[in-house]
Amino acid sequence: MKVLVTGASGYLGGRLCHALLEQGHSVRALVRHTSDLSVLPSSSTDGNFELAYGDVTDYRSLLDAFSGCLVIFHTAALVEPWLPDPSKFFSVNVGGLKNVLQAAREKKTIQKIIYTSSFFALGPTDGYIADETQVHPEKVFCSEYERSKVIADKIALQSAADGLPIVVVYPGVIYGPGKLSTGNIVGQLLIERFQGRLPGYIGNGNDKYSFSHVDDVVEGHIAAMNKGRPGERYLLTGENASFMHVFNIAAIITETKKPRFNIPLWVIEAYSWLSVVFCRLTGKLPLISPPTVNVLRHQWAYSCEKARVDLDYNPRSLQEGLKEVLPWLKGLGVIKY
Ligand SMILES: NC(=O)c1ccc[n+]([C@@H]2O[C@H](COP(=O)([O-])OP(=O)(O)OC[C@H]3O[C@@H](n4cnc5c(N)ncnc54)[C@H](OP(=O)(O)O)[C@@H]3O)[C@@H](O)[C@H]2O)c1
Repeated sequence: MKVLVTGASGYLGGRLCHALLEQGHSVRALVRHTSDLSVLPSSSTDGNFELAYGDVTDYRSLLDAFSGCLVIFHTAALVEPWLPDPSKFFSVNVGGLKNVLQAAREKKTIQKIIYTSSFFALGPTDGYIADETQVHPEKVFCSEYERSKVIADKIALQSAADGLPIVVVYPGVIYGPGKLSTGNIVGQLLIERFQGRLPGYIGNGNDKYSFSHVDDVVEGHIAAMNKGRPGERYLLTGENASFMHVFNIAAIITETKKPRFNIPLWVIEAYSWLSVVFCRLTGKLPLISPPTVNVLRHQWAYSCEKARVDLDYNPRSLQEGLKEVLPWLKGLGVIKY
């Protein structure tokens, strides 16, 4: 079956392309002329893999790319906590989804669309664990990225109600091997920690996230193609834990010392504002920005029970996942222990 993957040059999209090829599918990867293709197979050596150049903000390029495809995985998005021009979140994450949906309608051959949303689209879960019935309260948004994913989620669900065969999946914080893009925040923070630039825990450990291993999320996407019911939401989340727990597990696995102190959020916030000033001067996007601190002030814990039942989704524990990630980062030469 020929499938198209948007965001194929990204962290999740790259791993998804490889897994689809391994499972015998024919994959067309939507990439931009500027994309770094290092995570993708070579189209000259794998006959089942081809590139289509386009942009989700360019409707015509999507129409061309979708030709002959039966399934669309729409993973492309701007995945940054902060951008100097926040309107880009809307043109890409909302406008891009609208274009994908319209192109799928026009093509008529598309049997299923798997849209990658985010746990952010459901909103924070301070003090409890949420499932797919949670609706974002839309009172406060930690970031423009979150706001764009909430708007896009509503558009995706409305299009399902209007009859498009779309399944929406909601990964947690994705971690594991793959491109070290901003989306790979766990990898980035482990590098900061092991290179000595992050000496303490981030905040007091009251933060909570659902950590999803990238290959579990990939399997969840493929299961959503095979078994997901159009119009349904599926949380592809994992173990609910704080970053303090991540650093503690990392210390045990690597037999290194745990951080000895907590860096208060106000210090991280001050640093985040300085990072934004630095970005405005240099153009280099910050790893930690004020929206990141807003996110750290909340909890984001979810249950993936529905995906377990409907999609046979079976996420691994953080301990298991990090046991693979740390040697992988060491093998890349980006951390030492
Ligand atoms: N990472 C996480 O923790 C996480 C958690 C929950 C949900 N998600 C969702 O998962 C999806 C993938 O995230 P990721 O972490 O893999 O992000 P990523 O590594 O930053 O990849 C994003 C991809 O989107 C592409 N893209 C951006 N703008 C585009 C445009 N205008 N036209 C076409 N392609 C464009 C990028 O292409 P270029 O290579 O050309 O830039 C890249 O391939 C996103 O929808 C994100 O919201 C991620």
